[in-house]
Parts: sequence; C-alpha cells; structure tokens
Amino acid sequence: MRDGHLPVMVEEVMTMLAAAPGSLQIDATLGGGGHAERILEASDPDGRLLGLDADGTAIARVRARLAPRFGDRLRLRQANFRELAGVAPAEGFGAVDGCLFDLGLSSFQLADADRGFGFRTGGPLDMRFDTSRGVPAGELLATLDAIELAALFRKYGEEPFAGRIARAIGEARRVAPIRTAEELAALVERVAPARAPGRRRVHPATRVFQALRIAVNEELEALETGLAAALNLLRPGGRLVVLSYHSLEDRIVKRFFQAERRGCVCPPEAPVCICGRVPRLRLVTSRGLVPGEAEIVANPRARSARLRAAERIAA
Ligand SMILES: C[S@@+](CC[C@H](N)C(=O)[O-])C[C@H]1O[C@@H](n2cnc3c(N)ncnc32)[C@H](O)[C@@H]1O
Repeated sequence: MRDGHLPVMVEEVMTMLAAAPGSLQIDATLGGGGHAERILEASDPDGRLLGLDADGTAIARVRARLAPRFGDRLRLRQANFRELAGVAPAEGFGAVDGCLFDLGLSSFQLADADRGFGFRTGGPLDMRFDTSRGVPAGELLATLDAIELAALFRKYGEEPFAGRIARAIGEARRVAPIRTAEELAALVERVAPARAPGRRRVHPATRVFQALRIAVNEELEALETGLAAALNLLRPGGRLVVLSYHSLEDRIVKRFFQAERRGCVCPPEAPVCICGRVPRLRLVTSRGLVPGEAEIVANPRARSARLRAAERIAA
C-alpha cells in the first residue's frame, strides 16, 4: 500500500473534479496526499493546489513527500476546514475551480497507537484530528454521565445498544478509568451482541468509536460550515466533490446539495418568492457514486464510501 493510505475512488474523483492546467484547487482533507498528488499531476504544469488538514502530522508528511516535486504549485496549511472561508483567500485561493472533501480519518491515523482511533491500539483514547485543541475522547468518557453518553452514542453512532453500553461504561469506570481504545472496544464487545438484527458484520464497537470521534472533532458542524465556505469560493463551473463514509455525513452533503440546487426556500403556499435565494449548484451525480467491487477488494476502507459531486452555477 503506497505510503499507508490508498486514496478512495480516485478515478471517479478525478473525473468529477476535471482539474485542468492553470486551475486552482483545494483539497480540504489532505490526509496522505494521494488525491492531492493526482490533482497536481492532472493540472500540470501550472495548476495550483491548497491542501488543508487539521492534523499537523499529515501536513508534515505530505510536505516531505510532495513539496520537492511540485514546489510552489502546492500550498499547505494546518487548519480545520471549518476555517476555509478565512484560510483560502489568505493563501491566494479566494476563487477556485475545484474543492475536494474526503471525510473521516486516514489509515495513518487509524494505525497510530497514540491517537486511539483503532480498536486494537493500547495508547490513550484521544481521537482528536488536531491534538492541540479540544477535548480528548477519554475525557468525554470519564466526565459525561450515562444518560449523556447514551445520547451521544445514539446521535452520532445510531447505536441500538446505546443505553446498555453507556451503563456498562458507568459501572466500569467506578472501578477504574477506561484508558485505552482496546479497553473500550473490549467492554463494548462484552455488552453489545455482535450479531443482533440490523448489525452488520463489523466490529461491535464501530458505532461507539464513530460517535466519540464525531463528537470530539465536532465533525458534523465542521462539515456544514466547510461546505458552505467551499461553495462561496467556487467560480462558476467549479466543482465540489465530497466523499463521505457514513449516513450522518452523507445526509448533510445530500441536503446541502439539494438546497443549493433548489435555491428558493419559500413555503410552497407562498404566491411569489420572498426569500430571494437562487440555485447555486447543479448536481453532477444525482444519487451519488459508490466504489466498484474491485476497489473494495483492494481497499476495504472504501466499502462505505459515497461520492457526491456538484457544479457551481452563476448565481
Ligand atoms: C480520509 S483522510 C483523507 C485522505 C486523502 N484524501 C488521501 O488521498 O490521502 C481524511 C483527512 O481529513 C482530515 N480531516 C478530517 N476532518 C477535518 C476537518 N474538519 N478539517 C481539516 N481536516 C480534517 C483528517 O485529519 C484526515 O487526515
């Protein structure tokens, strides 16, 4: 596997972005830089790319790998994409031809024992993309009461056994704090049946881990803010491409695209439009694309991906 993270649906992403020479592109979730590298190659010789990641180690890794090859065509900033509206113009990317969001976490982060993203890591339960800000997952687990924890697992994990798991956490931490991802995964495995109806064949702690990660990084709020900012930065004809990995993310993307395609938000009974909003997007993928079988076999991380793309129209 190249550099630990295989870019997902990379051919589809490239077709949708249609990055041309001379264009300006933003990769809002740089990760291992796999998509960024392809975008820079496609926009050779003078296209430029701004890469953001909340995780400073991702920025440093991609800088070491790609800066020698692409020089000043590549700009990198450690930033959350919720800050895109300020960061992009400050870096000379105030009007762009394409913007990519490849949500969630990279294989590097999953494998990093100190971050606590993976079930089998013995390191601390942190789960922050940016370890210099916010509250680590272990602190949430230690401080929220069982009712709050259950609500969190339900809201961000759609976990059917949220109450049972939250109560078990409450009991366990009266004896000793839950310190590692491995301990949390083992606890969930003990109390939540792996093969209950409606549960796919994934690790029983998947939804709990997803919920904690979303809460720790305020991922859904960041996504809403980031999408709105990206749309404002796009030139007419510019493309917005989003890869999401679970239904909560995809729902936000889908609703955002639908709302911006429709424009007017007046109630149907209003005789004339009073909101003044006009359509700003044309959908390029109407229902979203999913990876092919061959990609899922080669890269199981891709299995839950859904790609949505839209084009900015002159408003
Ligand atoms: C799936 S990986 C991206 C992989 C990348 N496309 C590649 O080809 O290697 C997602 C990356 O987005 C970053 N990320 C997630 N949420 C973010 C946010 N709100 N702002 C900035 N970066 C974010 C994560 O730190 C992670 O490195």
